[in-house]
Amino acid sequence: MSRLGVGVIGVGSIADMHLGAYAANPRVQLVGVYDLNQERSAQKAETFGVERVHPTLDGLLADPQIDAVSICTWNDSHAEIATAALDAGKHVLVEKPLSRTVDEAEALEAAVARNDRYLQVGFVRRFGANARVLKSFVDDGMLGHVYHARATNIRRLGNPGGWFADSRRSGGGPLIDIGVHVLDLCWYFMGTPKAVTVSAVTHSPLGNRANVTSLSRYKVADYDPSRSDVEDFAAALIRFDNGASLSLETSYSLHALQDRLEVAVFGERGGAELEPELRIATELADTVLNLAPQIDHLSFDFAEGFAAEVAHFVALCLGEAEEVAPVSHGAEVMRMLGGVYESARTGREIRLG
Ligand SMILES: NC(=O)c1ccc[n+]([C@@H]2O[C@H](COP(=O)([O-])OP(=O)(O)OC[C@H]3O[C@@H](n4cnc5c(N)ncnc54)[C@H](O)[C@@H]3O)[C@@H](O)[C@H]2O)c1
Repeated sequence: MSRLGVGVIGVGSIADMHLGAYAANPRVQLVGVYDLNQERSAQKAETFGVERVHPTLDGLLADPQIDAVSICTWNDSHAEIATAALDAGKHVLVEKPLSRTVDEAEALEAAVARNDRYLQVGFVRRFGANARVLKSFVDDGMLGHVYHARATNIRRLGNPGGWFADSRRSGGGPLIDIGVHVLDLCWYFMGTPKAVTVSAVTHSPLGNRANVTSLSRYKVADYDPSRSDVEDFAAALIRFDNGASLSLETSYSLHALQDRLEVAVFGERGGAELEPELRIATELADTVLNLAPQIDHLSFDFAEGFAAEVAHFVALCLGEAEEVAPVSHGAEVMRMLGGVYESARTGREIRLG
């Protein structure tokens, strides 16, 4: 059996999910890690049984035993590191969001085009068991034309601080961090239509309350509650070239009564909620039914989802699978996110493309 040599770049919180999934995958040899923080690299290498700690990025990318890399760094280096990896002949799995900006995303599309290598965007929620079941329903035409979707990811007290709240390193706040998951899922189940207009608002009155953000459940490797220059809240209406529409709401800080996660799509023949729990609405025998598939994970499960995402990436690199989350999808999502920020900044509807 051929094994894929893998390197992991950036070994903070979410890299544990990648490292754990690779370590458990018999088709993978975990060859190397690299992080700005060498102590953290050494510790993660020991925990997950990685062969080499590379002190430099160039060293890891020059390692002939590494065929593919996961990039789990802050958003500001996704495009630069992914480009270098592709140009070094490696396949790439890059964490979401693909990049900080549309320009960076389009440069990555060019890097994929000039190299005969794959780039898989870390849209991990597409790989969850609930999403895989819903995708089968969509592909079988059970929902018909999906004409509206609702994407909600509301945290009332969920500003992680640190680099997430530093726009220079993150590119934005909840929209680019957690809104991206629900926007992408809705768009995926809508059949990835072309977005044509975006009308949006953002608000930021709450995020920089150090006393409150320090209570946040969401902590990162360089957590610093004292600084936030990203939005607290974003809301948008996106229209697509097939007549469909999508409404989005997302926040780190909001005086809502509870956190809320919702991914809902509404079609001419049926509808579905993926989150908070998979349910499919359909019509049969002159009535309306809610179907609850018999699967273990009706909601996204991190361990199951990352194992499936990584298994797919490995199969893709070994030439045994079709792309599910290609760079073009990551770039189109970045165009929508860029449109949201642009519309909020200018106070008007933005026409894309
Ligand atoms: N898919 C998901 O559900 C999910 C969840 C959380 C985070 N993420 C994404 O994963 C990425 C990392 O997030 P995190 O929560 O693990 O952050 P983190 O701060 O915990 O870890 C990031 C690590 O990357 C290192 N790093 C940063 N820039 C680097 C560079 N240029 N070169 C080498 N190392 C560098 C840091 O030292 C740190 O160890 C982000 O893009 C984030 O959006 C995805």
